[in-house]
Amino acid sequence: MDVLVLPGPDACGRAVADAVTAVVAPGGPVTLGLATGSSPLPAYRELVRRHRADGLSFAAAQAFLLDEYLGLPAGHPQTYRQVIRRELTGHLDIDPDAVHGPDGTAPDPERAAARYEQLLARSGPVDVQILGIGTNGHIGFNEPGTPPSSLTRVATLTARTRADNARFFDRPADVPHRVITQGLGTIRRARHLVLVATGAGKAAAVAAAVQGPVTPDVPASVLQAHPHCTLVLDDAAAGGLHGAVTGDRHPAGLPWSGARKGHR
Ligand code: F6R
Repeated sequence: MDVLVLPGPDACGRAVADAVTAVVAPGGPVTLGLATGSSPLPAYRELVRRHRADGLSFAAAQAFLLDEYLGLPAGHPQTYRQVIRRELTGHLDIDPDAVHGPDGTAPDPERAAARYEQLLARSGPVDVQILGIGTNGHIGFNEPGTPPSSLTRVATLTARTRADNARFFDRPADVPHRVITQGLGTIRRARHLVLVATGAGKAAAVAAAVQGPVTPDVPASVLQAHPHCTLVLDDAAAGGLHGAVTGDRHPAGLPWSGARKGHR
């Protein structure tokens, strides 16, 4: 696991964008895994900037969302399908039909989850999977207790995650209880996992994931065993790490090959 500690969210965003650029810039077919939530937004802004300013093309890319709420009407602004279009894919030259997500409006969500898992298995592996982390250590919406081999399925959000996500909705009660999420086993098939965490609110979850035991109590701890995982943290999110990692800075360090140095 590479841990990159940078001065703030924008620097983190550039580092995440570098990892994506490394696989997109060559121009061949590429499969991206996209998280929603607030943590990747600086990275998405940077990718849109590179597309506009440098002509970075996503025309040969396909993209897969990590998760989706159940129970929101199609087109609701907080469905992850809408969020990703608004924040990223709607500003790129990616084919809209190449942007995939679980169907949160399906009459049979279990079947929709199984269909999405099959699609991912057929289309993968994901080259770069962007991840955020919940304050309780979840990745995707794999809440504490999720087995490491879990696949895409219907899951129930914890009260803590619903409270954390209430900021995106008019009223806390509007946050859906259920979701379709890629499983930990699904996520771990990606070639390169890039988890971004910013802010002191993530420090405890990051410390448990990186330096605690590998346990279903902290779903992100499964990343410790992944062959190519990069954690991109700002100083605040890294604040709970101890020992050699604390204060470790890589201002010009690019731990993945092919990244574009000009952007740092
Ligand atoms: C979103 C997702 C979640 C978020 C996590 C952190 O697609 O899968 O795991 O990454 O809840 O959310 P933010 O970034 O809003 O703090």
